Amino acid sequence: MVSQFSVKKVYIQTYGCQMNTYDTEQMLQVLATKGFESAKSPDEAQLIVINSCSVREKSETKALSQLGRFAALKKSDPSKVLAFGGCVGQTEGPKLKKQFPFLDLVFGTNNYRDLPEMLDEFTPRWNEIGGDEERDLLVPSKRPEAKSQAFITITNGCDKFCSYCIVPFTRGREISRSPEEIVEEAAVLVQQRGVKEIMLLGQNVNSYWGKNKQGAFTSLFQLLELFQKESEGGKLNGLKRLRYTTSHPRDFDEDLARAFRDFPVLCEFLHLPFQAGSDAVLRKMRRFYTAKDFLRKMELVRKYRPDIALSTDVIVGFPTETRADFEETLRVIREVEFDNIYSFIYSERPYTRSEQWVDDVPLAEKKSRIHELLDTQRAISKKKYSEDIGQIAEVLVEGRSKNNASLWTGRTRKNRVIHFTDEVPGIAPVKEGDFLNLLVTDASHSWQAGELPLKEHQWPAA
Ligand code: SAH
Ligand code: SF4
Ligand code: F3S
Repeated sequence: MVSQFSVKKVYIQTYGCQMNTYDTEQMLQVLATKGFESAKSPDEAQLIVINSCSVREKSETKALSQLGRFAALKKSDPSKVLAFGGCVGQTEGPKLKKQFPFLDLVFGTNNYRDLPEMLDEFTPRWNEIGGDEERDLLVPSKRPEAKSQAFITITNGCDKFCSYCIVPFTRGREISRSPEEIVEEAAVLVQQRGVKEIMLLGQNVNSYWGKNKQGAFTSLFQLLELFQKESEGGKLNGLKRLRYTTSHPRDFDEDLARAFRDFPVLCEFLHLPFQAGSDAVLRKMRRFYTAKDFLRKMELVRKYRPDIALSTDVIVGFPTETRADFEETLRVIREVEFDNIYSFIYSERPYTRSEQWVDDVPLAEKKSRIHELLDTQRAISKKKYSEDIGQIAEVLVEGRSKNNASLWTGRTRKNRVIHFTDEVPGIAPVKEGDFLNLLVTDASHSWQAGELPLKEHQWPAA
């Protein structure tokens, strides 16, 4: 048996949703117990891991082409260990092992905690999903890489089986972590790492139903309530912002709408995917709500929190979607006026129900529909982002802007990106994790510009 523990640097390439980002952090933590440090580039790493996503064909292709590039690296340095994990690893594990013999390890979505043992034995593993065995979901976390914002996965898996979606097959049945474990993890982040904003994660966090030590069940509303309570001088003292993603309209109820009014720690931002505006298409998608139901929920949340910022996901070109169906989607977009939409061209996925249906909307038509959608949304986004011009927004500083090093970037409570400069004479330098009150001076469809409202205002104390 080859000991791999001389291997000390690991590079992880992550694809997909925030849950994969969270899993990557967890992998780094598990590997740290074996002396691995995070590498800046794959060249300097002895262990290279791909954490893949398979939600659309393109996501899968991206991970596989990356594998090709890493294979070339391994060819020039055969001592490198190459591992492939995540959602594609989960469903395609055995196939990948055969197809890419140079792969040392293939593993699934919940196996990362076995990585050290797998490295010892070079044994691929992927969880048997679909069984009812409850797995210990995650390792307790110290999370050395956490910044002022952090993710915590609270549910894993999905029981909804929307007809187009591969996630229930990659992540298995839905499991909720216990509320105590979640609050403990949050407390470590807030108290030891100075985390100020937490995003609770799951494929459908609304159906969170966590059993506590006494055997009683906690809903998402109750979990949010607990976070609110603990943030007021309790275990989570110092936590300023809480968000969650992603939600299913069917499980979004009045309590959750009310939470946006009653819990100040919960940011006035909600991502609630509606996928399609046509009831016929929604039925085929197995979403179990109508466009009217969705619009009612939007009204409900605005009743409790009129200034809430909303975002959503939309699929374009689902099998049988007609021009008239698509116009229903446009209608919902115009009526709700989301801040942002994430729109996707329908992609046929293995294991799903819709894979058996004819993918009958021509690609050119799908592309033209998505462009129309994006054009419509761009104008709405600009309008929404411009609403704040002339107002003061609380901004959490994230760092230097990626595109312009002379600017800083932050995020408002409404999740709007804001750019600003700290080149104000006599003012202390700004840093990641600061909260600033900025005057919003300009806006596009995807960012706002801000500045200090008054000369005599100081950046907050260090
Ligand atoms: N659990 C979340 C979605 C997770 S997947 C929810 O139900 O809202 C993120 C998004 O990818 C989905 O909201 C959907 O818009 C999109 N998506 C999922 N499967 C897809 C497919 N086969 N083709 C195109 N888009 C897809
Ligand atoms: Fe996929 Fe539907 Fe589950 Fe979301 S709710 S992860 S779209 S099956
Ligand atoms: Fe992708 Fe898996 Fe997330 S399929 S979207 S990485 S749950």
